[in-house]
Amino acid sequence: MHARTIIEPFRIKSVEPIRQTTRAQRETLLRAAQYNLFLLPADDVLIDLLTDSGTGAMSTHQWAAIMEGDESYAGSRSFDRFQASVQDIFGYKHVIPTHQGRAAERILFGVTCKKGDVVPNNTHFDTTRANVEYTGAEAVDLLIPEGRHPEQSHPFKGNMDVAALEALIARVGRERIPLVMLTITNNSGGGQPVSMENARQVSGVCRRHGIPLYFDACRFAENAWFIKQREEGYGEKTPKEIAQEMFRLGDGCTMSAKKDGMANIGGFLCTNDDLLAQQEKNLLILTEGYPTYGGLAGRDLEAIAVGLQEALAEDYLRYRIASTAYLGKAIAAAGVPIVQPPGGHAIYMDARSFLPHIPSSQFPGVALACELYLEGGVRSVEIGTLMFAAAAQMDLVRLAMPRRVYTQSHVDYLVEVILEVWKNREAIHGMKLTYEAPFLRHFTAHLEPL
Ligand code: F0G
Repeated sequence: MHARTIIEPFRIKSVEPIRQTTRAQRETLLRAAQYNLFLLPADDVLIDLLTDSGTGAMSTHQWAAIMEGDESYAGSRSFDRFQASVQDIFGYKHVIPTHQGRAAERILFGVTCKKGDVVPNNTHFDTTRANVEYTGAEAVDLLIPEGRHPEQSHPFKGNMDVAALEALIARVGRERIPLVMLTITNNSGGGQPVSMENARQVSGVCRRHGIPLYFDACRFAENAWFIKQREEGYGEKTPKEIAQEMFRLGDGCTMSAKKDGMANIGGFLCTNDDLLAQQEKNLLILTEGYPTYGGLAGRDLEAIAVGLQEALAEDYLRYRIASTAYLGKAIAAAGVPIVQPPGGHAIYMDARSFLPHIPSSQFPGVALACELYLEGGVRSVEIGTLMFAAAAQMDLVRLAMPRRVYTQSHVDYLVEVILEVWKNREAIHGMKLTYEAPFLRHFTAHLEPL
């Protein structure tokens, strides 16, 4: 038999209860959270799709590896296992552990960027942009035009616009571009993959101009799966072979192990450059820790070493990408505007089309996210005008799927909640900002309905 139903490729060994609340309770809770879902206690959320970062379930193999953690300050055997696992996939000479992705970013940009520099990326994630800008450099997004239109389908909507990269280098000059970054998959642009062909072209441009290429590799395994499914010539390769081939095109990477590292905390920075690695390790020691643990416990290094390999398993990736697509297809079939095609780790609803009566200045994404919480206790996140202010090219609401956490009936419930909000969309009001921090304002902003 060739079964059509794609099942969760695991059974459940330990469960964590989730709590139902009433609509009246949620109204009070949302008001108390100043209409910012980041400020809600997690216990008051039924289905939490705020992020896929650090929220995954670990496997029995990871928990077993955790018991093997060597907590020695220097030269821990857990570091050796971590380094071997990272190098097996990523292939870079230096592996520097950090407590999460943004620490790797801060260190990388801290040693490579200065005021007046320009860093191109297909699309910077919020922390990546903030860490570039914190050094005084400018973060420039060079996504292909298709990537900016939610309704347009394209197999590799995360691709960088190679002509725009060439034009930028010609305009500002090679000396002002310390590195180019490629984010796989492109989180802010809808969890969309970058093709091997595009990475090859970007790598070619970088090599020709002598500019290092770094990957923001958070969801590299999902990206590899999309290449296997969609790109000519990759159908017979394993996700690991595809990932290895892609990383060979670059000079290093930043990584949040809270995504495709299948861990609850952790990250790393890789480079082939000896001098840079030395400078990076010096900064690491200043704020993260000694280079064989970098702000992580030995047991965290063990969990990541195992998790990185599990993220590349074909049965896992097949289920992962199919379950995200299942949610996207179900709501899109009822007319809900989403970024097409469904991404790897999340479905992104297009709030500007969902709520055409709410202008961007009134945060349609925040309004929609609040309504999903009121309707069904679902927590999502706005990726739009609140997060990026004037740099926002779209107003999206992201439903990010934690790894190996929710089952198909949770997703069926989600579909019901979203379709109910869709039915009543005309009654939803815009929002007004009442407090904002000077950077990364979405985390702490206060709002109120208009
Ligand atoms: N790069 C990308 C593409 C990301 O999605 C994230 C985090 C980071 C870097 C930073 O990693 O959180 O470990 O410091 N994204 C999470 C999210 C927070 O919800 O998408 P971190």
